Amino acid sequence: MSTGSHFVCQECGHSALAWTGRCPGCGEWNTLVEAKRSAKPRRGGSARAAAGGAEPAPKPVPLRDVRAPDVGRLLTGISELDRVLGGGVVPGSVVLLGGSPGIGKSTLTGMALGNLADAGGKVLYVSGEESAAQVRLRAERLGDASLAVPVLAETSVEAVLAALEAERPAVCVIDSVQTLHTEGMTGAPGSVGQVREAAGQITEVGKRIGTAVILVGHVTKDGSVAGPRVLEHLVDCVLLFEGERERSFRTLRALKNRFGATSEVGVFEMRSGGLVEVADPSARFVGEASDAPGSCVLCAMEGTRPLLVEVQALVAPTEIVPPRRVATGIDRNRLAMVIAVLARHGGPSLAAADVFVNVAGGVRVDEPGADLAVALALASAHRGQTLAGTQGRPLACFGEVGLTGELRFVAHPERRVAEAIKFGLGRVIGPEAGEASQGLAPHRTLRSALRATAAGPRPAARAA
Ligand code: TYD
Ligand code: MG
Repeated sequence: MSTGSHFVCQECGHSALAWTGRCPGCGEWNTLVEAKRSAKPRRGGSARAAAGGAEPAPKPVPLRDVRAPDVGRLLTGISELDRVLGGGVVPGSVVLLGGSPGIGKSTLTGMALGNLADAGGKVLYVSGEESAAQVRLRAERLGDASLAVPVLAETSVEAVLAALEAERPAVCVIDSVQTLHTEGMTGAPGSVGQVREAAGQITEVGKRIGTAVILVGHVTKDGSVAGPRVLEHLVDCVLLFEGERERSFRTLRALKNRFGATSEVGVFEMRSGGLVEVADPSARFVGEASDAPGSCVLCAMEGTRPLLVEVQALVAPTEIVPPRRVATGIDRNRLAMVIAVLARHGGPSLAAADVFVNVAGGVRVDEPGADLAVALALASAHRGQTLAGTQGRPLACFGEVGLTGELRFVAHPERRVAEAIKFGLGRVIGPEAGEASQGLAPHRTLRSALRATAAGPRPAARAA
């Protein structure tokens, strides 16, 4: 790109040559900000471009002849994190760790570096947000291993690059990428131009010297802040650290992973001594589940692992038009769809009611398999009657609800049912699952599932 200014949208990263009030990329108003490039050409691609193509064109290499060194992965010692990464950190890779402020990104990366250092690895923690003293205070809570991590409190990209070249660590954490600024570019730290440029330069150096870089980035609740999202195509792996700040459970999932599956999810709990891995989250969530009206247990799949979570619903009459639809832990649009299907296919009409649905424990289930649980919880909340589970236990279910009211197959029914049986929640309501699954009560339609679960208060409940 030539010297001079261009304008970058702070929402979507669209780049334009002239300023306009409205971004042509995303349609937001007043989001274009001038970003100047310095005349100093960068090493690599831009230098070649500046030379006007005087150098010979680079020669492509057949994949067969590409040298792929078989390097082992670096284990962070946090098995949930290693699993989500696809088996540890790949040397020289770039990982973006996003999450809202206060969720525990610094804690997680601090612990990971501590373990790596403890195992004899060379690491570096670059803190742009906190002073070295603040980082130390956190490390004290995390234990001895974390205190061994070398820290650099720095916000200048040039200084960080120099430190990387000099130290050549195996893993480097940049906390956070939004605090960095590069001299070659105008714009405040955290603006799209700066974030992209800083991440680009650090990635380039990291790949060259074989340092795995973990970029920490802040994302707001809806994940819409421009900063880290514009980096998604640049990095090898995007991890999202989620959870409700007030609740102690945190989930770590991969949105993109060049070296592994994106379906794995790690579950953590924030304690006084840092993050603790929750190896058996189902036990925790089912233990808390109630059999009150509006509650049921969803047999969800988090990656390859079944997970039982409690889905709670509240239906309250309202005069407000349109009524409120509040979804925590599930997709809002799927909630709207389930409400509509309920009204048409054998369930209650909730047109004059506020509806709240919550996945307890601060977990997020992003799969259509949650539909049936939402529908049954809503119907139960509307009736004010508990769902009929077996022997006083909460009702367990799973399945996608189609627009015509049919129950649709979702992946791994046998694992979901097995998990429910493990916790004494046998007779799971779900869609028909090919080969007859033990412990599954199959239904073809939402209507039939509703009828089967609307048995009214069980004898035990009536006696109480
Ligand atoms: P932090 O890692 O600083 O979050 P982020 O980097 O994502 O902004 O940690 C956030 C919260 O975690 C903070 O409010 C304090 C809490 N915390 C604990 O409960 N226990 C601990 O051992 C630590 C280090 C933090
Ligand atoms: Mg932090």
